[in-house]
Amino acid sequence: MVAGASEGLGEAFALEIAHRGLNVYLIARREEKLKELTDTIQRDHGVQVKYRKVDLSDADQIKDFFSQLDISPVRVVYNAAYAPVGWFTELRAEDPEKIVAVNVRGPVLVTHFASAIMKKGGTEGSC
Ligand SMILES: NC(=O)c1ccc[n+]([C@@H]2O[C@H](COP(=O)([O-])OP(=O)(O)OC[C@H]3O[C@@H](n4cnc5c(N)ncnc54)[C@H](OP(=O)(O)O)[C@@H]3O)[C@@H](O)[C@H]2O)c1
Repeated sequence: MVAGASEGLGEAFALEIAHRGLNVYLIARREEKLKELTDTIQRDHGVQVKYRKVDLSDADQIKDFFSQLDISPVRVVYNAAYAPVGWFTELRAEDPEKIVAVNVRGPVLVTHFASAIMKKGGTEGSC
Protein backbone atom coordinates (compact mmCIF):
# COMPACT_ATOMS: atom_id res chain seq x y z
CA MET A 1 0.00 0.00 0.00
CA VAL A 2 1.38 3.37 -0.99
CA ALA A 3 -0.27 6.33 0.72
CA GLY A 4 0.40 9.45 -1.34
CA ALA A 5 0.94 7.57 -4.57
CA SER A 6 -0.34 9.98 -7.21
CA GLU A 7 2.99 11.68 -7.90
CA GLY A 8 6.57 12.17 -6.75
CA LEU A 9 8.27 9.65 -4.51
CA GLY A 10 5.01 7.77 -3.85
CA GLU A 11 4.50 7.15 -7.55
CA ALA A 12 8.15 6.03 -7.82
CA PHE A 13 7.69 3.64 -4.87
CA ALA A 14 4.55 2.19 -6.46
CA LEU A 15 6.33 1.59 -9.77
CA GLU A 16 9.32 -0.03 -8.08
CA ILE A 17 7.13 -2.24 -5.86
CA ALA A 18 5.20 -3.42 -8.94
CA HIS A 19 8.48 -3.93 -10.78
CA ARG A 20 9.48 -6.32 -7.97
CA GLY A 21 6.28 -8.31 -8.56
CA LEU A 22 4.18 -7.26 -5.57
CA ASN A 23 0.54 -6.17 -5.86
CA VAL A 24 -0.06 -2.49 -5.11
CA TYR A 25 -2.82 -0.46 -3.47
CA LEU A 26 -2.60 3.23 -4.37
CA ILE A 27 -4.03 5.99 -2.19
CA ALA A 28 -4.22 9.76 -2.70
CA ARG A 29 -6.85 12.43 -3.38
CA ARG A 30 -6.52 12.83 -7.15
CA GLU A 31 -8.43 9.91 -8.58
CA GLU A 32 -7.54 10.63 -12.20
CA LYS A 33 -3.81 10.40 -11.41
CA LEU A 34 -4.36 7.14 -9.50
CA LYS A 35 -6.31 5.69 -12.43
CA GLU A 36 -3.52 6.64 -14.86
CA LEU A 37 -0.88 5.04 -12.63
CA THR A 38 -3.04 1.93 -12.20
CA ASP A 39 -3.29 1.55 -15.98
CA THR A 40 0.48 2.03 -16.38
CA ILE A 41 1.34 -0.54 -13.71
CA GLN A 42 -1.13 -3.11 -15.04
CA ARG A 43 0.19 -2.65 -18.57
CA ASP A 44 3.90 -2.73 -17.69
CA HIS A 45 4.09 -5.10 -14.72
CA GLY A 46 1.01 -7.36 -14.76
CA VAL A 47 0.50 -7.26 -10.98
CA GLN A 48 -2.85 -6.54 -9.32
CA VAL A 49 -3.47 -2.85 -8.66
CA LYS A 50 -6.24 -1.21 -6.70
CA TYR A 51 -6.69 2.45 -5.94
CA ARG A 52 -8.89 4.52 -3.69
CA LYS A 53 -9.40 8.22 -3.23
CA VAL A 54 -8.66 8.99 0.43
CA ASP A 55 -7.89 12.36 1.99
CA LEU A 56 -5.28 11.42 4.58
CA SER A 57 -5.85 14.66 6.49
CA ASP A 58 -9.30 13.29 7.38
CA ALA A 59 -9.22 10.69 10.17
CA ASP A 60 -12.73 9.47 9.32
CA GLN A 61 -11.73 8.74 5.71
CA ILE A 62 -8.73 6.72 6.92
CA LYS A 63 -10.90 4.72 9.33
CA ASP A 64 -13.50 4.17 6.64
CA PHE A 65 -10.86 3.01 4.16
CA PHE A 66 -9.41 0.43 6.55
CA SER A 67 -12.85 -0.78 7.66
CA GLN A 68 -13.52 -1.83 4.05
CA LEU A 69 -10.04 -3.10 3.23
CA ASP A 70 -9.97 -6.64 1.93
CA ILE A 71 -6.26 -7.33 1.59
CA SER A 72 -3.80 -9.27 3.72
CA PRO A 73 -0.88 -9.31 4.25
CA VAL A 74 -0.07 -5.63 3.93
CA ARG A 75 3.01 -3.45 4.00
CA VAL A 76 2.87 0.33 3.93
CA VAL A 77 4.77 3.20 2.39
CA TYR A 78 3.43 6.50 3.79
CA ASN A 79 4.67 9.17 1.43
CA ALA A 80 1.84 11.72 1.66
CA ALA A 81 2.99 15.05 2.97
CA TYR A 82 1.81 18.58 3.34
CA ALA A 83 4.79 20.89 3.57
CA PRO A 84 4.21 24.45 2.37
CA VAL A 85 7.52 26.08 1.47
CA GLY A 86 8.24 29.53 2.90
CA TRP A 87 8.48 31.45 6.14
CA PHE A 88 6.81 29.72 9.06
CA THR A 89 5.37 33.07 10.12
CA GLU A 90 3.55 33.26 6.80
CA LEU A 91 1.70 29.96 7.02
CA ARG A 92 -2.03 30.30 6.35
CA ALA A 93 -4.29 30.01 9.40
CA GLU A 94 -5.36 26.47 8.44
CA ASP A 95 -1.84 25.23 7.63
CA PRO A 96 -0.55 24.11 11.07
CA GLU A 97 -3.54 21.80 11.64
CA LYS A 98 -3.26 20.41 8.13
CA ILE A 99 0.49 19.79 8.50
CA VAL A 100 -0.12 17.81 11.68
CA ALA A 101 -3.09 15.95 10.15
CA VAL A 102 -1.27 14.75 7.02
CA ASN A 103 2.29 14.41 8.33
CA VAL A 104 1.72 13.19 11.89
CA ARG A 105 -1.81 11.88 12.56
CA GLY A 106 -2.05 10.28 9.11
CA PRO A 107 0.98 7.99 9.42
CA VAL A 108 0.11 7.09 13.01
CA LEU A 109 -3.45 6.10 12.08
CA VAL A 110 -2.40 4.25 8.93
CA THR A 111 0.29 2.36 10.86
CA HIS A 112 -2.18 1.57 13.64
CA PHE A 113 -4.78 0.08 11.28
CA ALA A 114 -2.24 -1.63 9.03
CA SER A 115 -0.43 -3.22 11.96
CA ALA A 116 -3.73 -4.74 13.13
CA ILE A 117 -4.06 -6.43 9.72
CA MET A 118 -0.44 -7.60 9.93
CA LYS A 119 -1.03 -9.06 13.38
CA LYS A 120 -4.31 -10.74 12.44
CA GLY A 121 -2.78 -12.27 9.34
CA GLY A 122 0.12 -13.61 11.37
CA THR A 123 2.47 -12.26 8.73
CA GLU A 124 5.56 -10.19 8.94
CA GLY A 125 5.12 -6.64 7.73
CA SER A 126 6.75 -3.29 7.85
CA CYS A 127 5.53 0.27 7.91
N1 LIG B 1 11.04 14.65 -3.76
C1 LIG B 1 12.19 14.69 -3.09
O1 LIG B 1 13.30 14.76 -3.67
C2 LIG B 1 12.20 14.59 -1.59
C3 LIG B 1 13.41 14.48 -0.91
C4 LIG B 1 13.41 14.34 0.48
C5 LIG B 1 12.22 14.33 1.17
N2 LIG B 1 11.05 14.47 0.50
C6 LIG B 1 9.85 14.46 1.30
O2 LIG B 1 9.08 13.30 0.94
C7 LIG B 1 7.69 13.63 1.02
C8 LIG B 1 7.01 13.37 -0.31
O3 LIG B 1 7.70 14.08 -1.32
P1 LIG B 1 7.21 14.07 -2.82
O4 LIG B 1 8.24 14.77 -3.60
O5 LIG B 1 6.81 12.69 -3.21
O6 LIG B 1 5.89 14.99 -2.70
P2 LIG B 1 4.76 15.24 -3.78
O7 LIG B 1 5.30 15.02 -5.16
O8 LIG B 1 4.16 16.56 -3.43
O9 LIG B 1 3.72 14.06 -3.51
C9 LIG B 1 2.95 14.06 -2.35
C10 LIG B 1 1.92 12.94 -2.46
O10 LIG B 1 1.13 12.99 -1.28
C11 LIG B 1 -0.24 13.02 -1.65
N3 LIG B 1 -0.98 13.76 -0.66
C12 LIG B 1 -0.74 15.00 -0.20
N4 LIG B 1 -1.68 15.37 0.67
C13 LIG B 1 -2.55 14.32 0.76
C14 LIG B 1 -3.75 14.09 1.47
N5 LIG B 1 -4.28 15.01 2.29
N6 LIG B 1 -4.38 12.91 1.32
C15 LIG B 1 -3.89 11.97 0.48
N7 LIG B 1 -2.75 12.13 -0.22
C16 LIG B 1 -2.11 13.31 -0.08
C17 LIG B 1 -0.27 13.67 -3.03
O11 LIG B 1 -1.41 13.24 -3.76
P3 LIG B 1 -2.77 14.04 -3.97
O12 LIG B 1 -2.42 15.48 -4.13
O13 LIG B 1 -3.34 13.41 -5.20
O14 LIG B 1 -3.61 13.76 -2.77
C18 LIG B 1 0.99 13.10 -3.65
O15 LIG B 1 0.72 11.83 -4.21
C19 LIG B 1 7.62 15.09 1.45
O16 LIG B 1 7.54 15.12 2.86
C20 LIG B 1 8.94 15.64 1.01
O17 LIG B 1 9.32 16.77 1.78
C21 LIG B 1 11.01 14.58 -0.84
